[in-house]
Amino acid sequence: MKPDDLHDRARAPGPSDEFLHDVVEGLSRAQKTLPCRYFYDARGSELFEEITALPEYYPTRVEAAILRDCAPQIAARTAPGSVLVEFGSGSSTKTELLLSQMRDLAAYVAIDVSSSALEDARKRLRDRCPGLRVDTVVGDFWSAQIAPDLANAPRVGFFPGSTIGNLEPADAQALLQRFASMLGERARLIIGVDVMKPASILIPAYDDAQGVTAAFNLNLLTRGNRELGADFDVGAFRHVAIWNEAKTRIEMRLVSLREQIVHVGGRAFPFAVGETIHTENSHKWPAEIFDRIVERAGWRVAAQWTDPDQLFRVLELRALA
Ligand code: SAH
Ligand code: AVI
Repeated sequence: MKPDDLHDRARAPGPSDEFLHDVVEGLSRAQKTLPCRYFYDARGSELFEEITALPEYYPTRVEAAILRDCAPQIAARTAPGSVLVEFGSGSSTKTELLLSQMRDLAAYVAIDVSSSALEDARKRLRDRCPGLRVDTVVGDFWSAQIAPDLANAPRVGFFPGSTIGNLEPADAQALLQRFASMLGERARLIIGVDVMKPASILIPAYDDAQGVTAAFNLNLLTRGNRELGADFDVGAFRHVAIWNEAKTRIEMRLVSLREQIVHVGGRAFPFAVGETIHTENSHKWPAEIFDRIVERAGWRVAAQWTDPDQLFRVLELRALA
């Protein structure tokens, strides 16, 4: 064995090994899939920020307006010396609405898979919130840990954006259970969750006129080409957003425009014309369905806020004793 091979075999699996594994595994399925957490390389995070400003993409605007109203109440229930822990923090823009009301936090911990988004957020918060300790954790919210010296501080979780809706119901329940154990006794979790509404509003929100969401979806293939040496012909795929009524979710897919073979990791993946890669689910659960997921995960709804048109909900959850 050459020394390089030895080195490779001894190496711990890194993020790109995991990406390669997940892409090969996803493309090997009868219904080809790619996990949505890989949307967020530096370009993907930028495109997501553009999505949040689109006229059709109501969730960010509506949730921010709700948070602006309820932040003083949330802050009033937060003990001095608490740690605010955000899961999938992205640009941390909404977080500022809470931070501006929360005095005497021990720290704000931002967890995200996107190192570029975390870095931009850290720089902005340094100016906007002088004196606040900001810990950024590049990693998966399923496994990320916070610094040991914060172990004894009361923790408030923050999970906005309806990112929970990107998970299947069983996974959503498992993730909320994980947050309960990570946040500890007497934990609180502020969570933003989208609400079911007519497909005539939902489809444009996920297939906008300017094509930003299409670029966001297709960027996953560009990332695969750059990081894994894959040979996706990005122009030979088209973005679609479909409303799945039975599962109350928007599904984003990439449709193959021709018969083609894509190579990744030494494997060949044939595509028929019209065959799709399923890239994202965005659930729009009726309120009672989501509240049941919450309860099964060991939380109760302690307070909730919505907008006048009831497009989106922000919930304050408390861990069941
Ligand atoms: N919270 C922000 C961003 C939402 S976009 C808002 O409400 O606007 C979803 C964010 O979650 C992205 O920044 C993405 O990088 C991050 N993310 C997605 N899956 C993740 C995972 N498994 N672990 C950590 N972060 C994740
Ligand atoms: C992050 N997540 C909640 C967004 C959503 O609405 O499902 C991601 C997104 N996908 C397309 N547009 C926005």
